[in-house]
Amino acid sequence: MRRKIVAGNWKMHGGVDLVSDFSRVASDLCVGGGEVVIAPPFPFLISAVEALSGSLVRVAGQNVAIAEDGPFTGEVSARMLADAGCSYCIVGHSERRMHFGETDRDVCHKIERLTAAGITPIVCVGESLGERESGLALNVIERQVRAALEQGLCGQRADLVIAYEPVWAIGTGKVASPEQVQEVHAHIRSIVRHVAGDVAALVPILYGGSVKSTNAGELFAQQDVDGGLIGGASLDVSEFGEICKLLS
Ligand code: PGA
Repeated sequence: MRRKIVAGNWKMHGGVDLVSDFSRVASDLCVGGGEVVIAPPFPFLISAVEALSGSLVRVAGQNVAIAEDGPFTGEVSARMLADAGCSYCIVGHSERRMHFGETDRDVCHKIERLTAAGITPIVCVGESLGERESGLALNVIERQVRAALEQGLCGQRADLVIAYEPVWAIGTGKVASPEQVQEVHAHIRSIVRHVAGDVAALVPILYGGSVKSTNAGELFAQQDVDGGLIGGASLDVSEFGEICKLLS
């Protein structure tokens, strides 16, 4: 049985106050039967790990360096994230691909580093509006997923999470329909199965893009949707809590 996850991506928002808010409600967040993860910005990771240490809420980085260590000012390595107590790390978010030129190859290297450090990557894939309108969505996603799996990572293990996040649905209020989401998730699972065999049944595939408590239920009800990666709505603890409850 694969696990279900709701992960909150704070992006470049939040701070110590939001960490405190989460620590106050942490036990209520985990009632939905799945795993709950929050990804605050780097400076707040340690305080989040400490504040949530008595709870089942896990902490994630939002990015990681390609290099193992060395003279890379401003970078944070996978080992540092592990030292800080992170269990997960988001990689290949479309905002990183778009604004920081992150490529499929970079994503692949980052996954390799994280896996070596014992951190589970949450690998984001998704098409732009233009790609969807040109009928290329499934091809783009296939390229991104195959690149992520290139290291043979999934050959024997399932410690990888994939998040399908159509770029046109991120922060726009436009949500992909449950049918669109299920179609892509089933496609992703079939690619993972092709590359990695039976392990595909164990890889959680999350949906992200304008998820709220009002639409999460029907998205999470889809057969191949194993939870969500939540941006804006994860900055409001009560709204995030409502989304977590919908994970059964
Ligand atoms: P959103 O962001 O929920 O604000 O659309 C999702 C994400 O980018 O992970």
